[in-house]
Amino acid sequence: MDKKDIIILGIESSCDDTSAAVIRNGVLLSNVTASQAVHEAYGGVVPELASRAHQQNVVPVVDQALKRAGVKKEELTAVAFTRGPGLMGSLLVGVSFAKGFARSLGIPMIDVNHLQGHVLAHFIKENEEDEDQPSFPFLCLLVSGGNSQIILVKAYNDMEVIGQTIDDAAGEAIDKCSKVMGLGYPGGPIIDKLARMGNPLAYTFAKPHIGGYDYSFSGLKTSFLYSLRDWLKDDPEFIEHHKEDLAASLEYTIVDILMKKLRQAAKDTGIKQVAVAGGVSANNGLRNAFREHAARYGWKIFIPKFSYTTDNAAMIGITGYFKYQDGDFCKIDQPAYSRVTLK
Ligand code: KG4
Repeated sequence: MDKKDIIILGIESSCDDTSAAVIRNGVLLSNVTASQAVHEAYGGVVPELASRAHQQNVVPVVDQALKRAGVKKEELTAVAFTRGPGLMGSLLVGVSFAKGFARSLGIPMIDVNHLQGHVLAHFIKENEEDEDQPSFPFLCLLVSGGNSQIILVKAYNDMEVIGQTIDDAAGEAIDKCSKVMGLGYPGGPIIDKLARMGNPLAYTFAKPHIGGYDYSFSGLKTSFLYSLRDWLKDDPEFIEHHKEDLAASLEYTIVDILMKKLRQAAKDTGIKQVAVAGGVSANNGLRNAFREHAARYGWKIFIPKFSYTTDNAAMIGITGYFKYQDGDFCKIDQPAYSRVTLK
């Protein structure tokens, strides 16, 4: 290994995935994630169970990531970790481990904003030749279980949130509607699968009327719930008989809401490079809408690989790599934060 190599260990533990990744000179060597099935029975993430599972997983996951990368801990240049936003108990496990590990090795620790990590997932290189990355400025639609934002990305370290949800996030709305239908958790992948077999125009649900580039999904959720309640009065088997059409119509409405504001932002800023990130970016309807917009409006689009849509440490590692080059380090007494935004 070259002495000048910059080798970053990334650690992610903000919600229910314990993940570790190793990045050498900006190229990903390993990315290991332990997901927590324990929450499925509860229809949502149970914070206390999540932090306990992180405690069990963090050491083996880091160990695996180093082994798969073929890197010894003494060769690491710095340890990057998710500092927030997220569940405090979950964050504390990753933050404490990362700080202790970095301190024991005598190397810098780098705190990473989880949201910035999602955006910079587009810069993860799987090999030296991997050059298909956005250039600045670009727009990024960040859609997950906790966020729905339009971000104007001016540089690695300069991002401006120009629109965001004023209530529920898109993923949260999908998960809640899926729960109402009695489907499993998380609802996103299930709705996605059912939607492929249904008619997106079968039903219409309320859409928000708010200004600027902001989003709102709570009205849609209520409209879905009330419509379902009425239909179930006439046919108690309504969900079973129409679940594909319900999923397709719900997905269609959410994608339509998301793309309308994004289209407006692209038009107003004149920016034609548009990326999507976060857990909901795995959704096939949303991915197709991006492709249609690329063809129709001449956008150059950036859609992440499925493995980088949900929470992963590769995105934390790549963000840490950029911050390392800026000399932007974290002090031992800087705590985890559960709530934080991009600027
Ligand atoms: O970014 P992420 O892993 O973490 C959180 O913010 O928690 O996003 C999780 C969200 C969940 O709401 C999940 O239902 C949604 O992403 N999701 C999807 C799909 N896969 C995951 N939503 C729609 N279609 C999918 N294929």
